Amino acid sequence: MAQDTLTIVDNRTNRTCSLPIESGAVRASDFRQIKTAPEDFGLMTYDPAFMNTASCRSSVTFIDGERGILEYRGYPIEVLAEHCTFLEVAYLLLFGELPNETELKNWVHEITHHTMLHENTKKFMEGFRHDAHPMAMLVSTVAALATVYPEARNIHDPGIRLLQIKRLIGKMPSIAAMSYRHSLGFPYVYPDNDLTYPANFMNMLWKMVEPKYAANPVLARALDILFILHADHEQNCSTNAMRSVGSSHADPYLATAAAAAALSGPLHGGANEEVLKMLDEIGSRENVPSYVKKVRDGHGKLMGFGHRVYKNYDPRAKIIKWTAEQVFEVTGRNSKLDIAMELERIALEDEYFIQRKLYPNVDFYSGIIYQAMGFKPEMFTVLFAIPRTVGWLAQWQEMLLDGEQKIARPRQIYTGHRGRQFMPIDRRTPLAVTKA
Ligand code: ACO
Repeated sequence: MAQDTLTIVDNRTNRTCSLPIESGAVRASDFRQIKTAPEDFGLMTYDPAFMNTASCRSSVTFIDGERGILEYRGYPIEVLAEHCTFLEVAYLLLFGELPNETELKNWVHEITHHTMLHENTKKFMEGFRHDAHPMAMLVSTVAALATVYPEARNIHDPGIRLLQIKRLIGKMPSIAAMSYRHSLGFPYVYPDNDLTYPANFMNMLWKMVEPKYAANPVLARALDILFILHADHEQNCSTNAMRSVGSSHADPYLATAAAAAALSGPLHGGANEEVLKMLDEIGSRENVPSYVKKVRDGHGKLMGFGHRVYKNYDPRAKIIKWTAEQVFEVTGRNSKLDIAMELERIALEDEYFIQRKLYPNVDFYSGIIYQAMGFKPEMFTVLFAIPRTVGWLAQWQEMLLDGEQKIARPRQIYTGHRGRQFMPIDRRTPLAVTKA
């Protein structure tokens, strides 16, 4: 009869050992009982970049990368993008259920009333160089919030935790908008509590001398949909950073800053900025085939293509394409779209990309929309960080409440020297000579 166990024969000792299989996984620590001698440390699993290691149990986000499925708390992303607002989805991610009308009203009210930044924080941001990258400003300012709310260190108090969650969701757009205005040299705009979450963000970005900012409803809805699509994505690089830093019981501002720092890299959230640079470099549709050939020949990557989990079309990319059409009806078509579509067409017919199952990911088209809306490429990853904060916080809280979690601390396979003889400084060989 079939059993949920894995039987391993250790050919070094000829011993057999059976390990339980649960939820399609074996516990890596069970391998420790496989030893060559009693003093042996026991077998480890080696998995650089966590290619095949589940680091947690989670009920927040489900992805089936082979079939191109993404669900938040069991709801398909397509349904949420069509019917919900971002704050409604934020509630779902954090509390596990969609809010009813009263719950949503209260939730929106509370987030709206946490959008203001302390004047100290504003002054802190004024200190950045005029040409500082907005993502670097965002990371530093989020970390600096820890100085404004020292009680946040008490991460075991559910009330204090929830307050910081609301503050972070409320203040992220304010910090993002301030970093944008700072880079342009414009005065900061305070939040307007009459406006929705995306419309208020647009107000803080683009209000000039008009007494009241009126956001274009199509653009505000497009931004809200983009926020929904970016809100969570299970154990990605930045979420792993959030959980890892949070596992040391660092406060949520510092953990969120660490997660945002991870997001900033070009292989992760920074890819949307790189896509625009790549489209600029390609320049026109005619140059697409030679660019794809260059990548195929091993020179660089197609930014916005490929994904660790999706080996089929990224479902978010489909919704983004649809959203782009709505936006372009207001802003006019971004000429980069033609290059992007040609790039997608040619790459998807190319054996190199087919073999490796490389499809456009969420970042491939998002930058084109953001640019049409008037954002500089440097802002794109900041626009990603605003909604992803919700996912980071949902995963952080889940990690804190998970009795199986401890401080994240991987093992290593040591490859260096052992027990070397110490040399006094006057007898040491210079490094260059040693290497030669
Ligand atoms: N262009 C060309 N070749 C690629 C690309 C790409 N965008 N992505 C992967 N490949 C190739 C690799 O060179 C490798 O080829 P090989 O087997 O001949 O060595 C193969 O496809 C497998 O790729 P890996 O790098 O092993 O895949 P991994 O899961 O480690 O990386 C990643 C995933 C980082 C997203 C990668 O596809 C990439 O760098 N893409 C471009 C950057 C990007 O768009 N990042 C955004 C991801 S979405 C997000 O984070 C929000």
